[in-house]
Amino acid sequence: MTSTWFALIAGSTLALNAAAATVTPFADNNGAIPPASEYKGPLFKLSHQYPSNVPAPAMPWRTAINNGRITTQNAGAYAQALKDAVGKDMMVLLQDYAHWDAAQRGWYNEPWLGAKREAIHGMYVGGSSLDTSLFAASGLTKPITTYVLTYYDKTAAQTLKNVWGTTAMTPAVTPRTTQFPEGSLIIKAAFITADPTVWPVMTGSLVWPAYITTNATTGEFAKPRVYSTYLMQFDIIVKDSASAPDTGWVFSTLVYDRNVKPGANGVWDQMVVLGAQWGNDPLVNSTKDPHMPLTQNWNNPAAPAYGGATFGWGERLSGPNDGAMNDISFETDGNRQYVKNAKDSSCMSCHSTAQWDVKNPKVGMQSFLLPLMTHLPSDSSTGSPYLNSPAPGSPDWQRWFQNRKGDVPMNAGSVAADFDMVLTFKSLPLWYAATSKTPQLLNAIDRTGKHVADPTAK
Ligand code: HEC
Repeated sequence: MTSTWFALIAGSTLALNAAAATVTPFADNNGAIPPASEYKGPLFKLSHQYPSNVPAPAMPWRTAINNGRITTQNAGAYAQALKDAVGKDMMVLLQDYAHWDAAQRGWYNEPWLGAKREAIHGMYVGGSSLDTSLFAASGLTKPITTYVLTYYDKTAAQTLKNVWGTTAMTPAVTPRTTQFPEGSLIIKAAFITADPTVWPVMTGSLVWPAYITTNATTGEFAKPRVYSTYLMQFDIIVKDSASAPDTGWVFSTLVYDRNVKPGANGVWDQMVVLGAQWGNDPLVNSTKDPHMPLTQNWNNPAAPAYGGATFGWGERLSGPNDGAMNDISFETDGNRQYVKNAKDSSCMSCHSTAQWDVKNPKVGMQSFLLPLMTHLPSDSSTGSPYLNSPAPGSPDWQRWFQNRKGDVPMNAGSVAADFDMVLTFKSLPLWYAATSKTPQLLNAIDRTGKHVADPTAK
């Protein structure tokens, strides 16, 4: 392979291997600790004493829809119940960090990401640079970097135990170990580098200090510094095969709304449900029938406009942190077209690619996250940096918009990972890169197909 992508990936993976001696599965951070002159508060502690034999949890979100199926009518109530279910713990994490003890409250982190985590909150880069053109309407004036942090609740963390055991050195990736128990909750917070002067929608949002290197807003990528990051998005997903039998999951997300007055719960009250998705609506071809309504997706009309600016294909749910709009090129009738900011994904489209080829860990995920004609983001012959995409709405494209249960892989021969993207796109590639001498192909690409600088490279 001679593509630029391969050269970039191979280069940074060599650097990672050079630093492999210091890469351990349960490292708290990347080793860069802020000096006391910049930050004096608590640092992130990885929570990895994964539990087992946890009793089945109460599921108030099911009660919220009378134990029926989730629909476009009741999805708002369902998402609100999810928000309420995690609220007590998440308010401590977000607003009272000195008293946050994840293990004591039953929340856990995934292994192998230490080399990517900044020291203060354990966040790592979600999207290295989101373009101002995505959020021009809401007044974004500089590009942003997003930083994310994921926690699994104690029900979900049993799956981390099944896959990683106690050492995380020899993962067991099988159709059984990867499945999450009913009622599993996983959350992901996303903070961004744009302050309110750069993007007015962030006015009044929660500020977290982070000791970071990559900052597209200031244009600095070299030296770690304590920067302010601003809470933008908060995902909550749940395994619920009773409410959502087609996929077994409901994906929902909240976004910060400066126009909501904070009540007793502070900024948590200002996190507004953006929507919920429980399937990809495979029967709705949104390119051919742009007005055909979705039946497995609900977008909240009351959410702030910036939140919906980056909805995915046919307005399927996706949040401003998620990269569901990308620059793509594709062929129709022998002509190659180039489209900037094309809507080519959604929460569940992207997550339904979570799978691992156990026999071929160098490749790992046999299909990319986004619709692609090639295995990886491709070379200049197909118009890189535009992604070489199937034509929107074509049968090849539709492969990314099917409903599969979490134990059915996208590619035969791979193990499906029950929609868990951290596992197949981050933890397993990092485990493989650290424990073998062979480059892992996904390791230095972000979810939009862009090359990501490796923090361990220097
Ligand atoms: C274009 C791809 C893409 C889209 C769209 C996307 N995600 Fe993800 N998501 C990822 C990747 C990659 C990860 C793992 C790495 C990381 O944390 O950034 C992830 C991680 C997560 C996690 C942590 C647990 C897990 O399953 O890995 C949650 C929760 C999550 N996403 C929820 C959502 C929700 C809710 C939406 C829609 C509002 C969404 N995602 C849209 C790619 C995507």
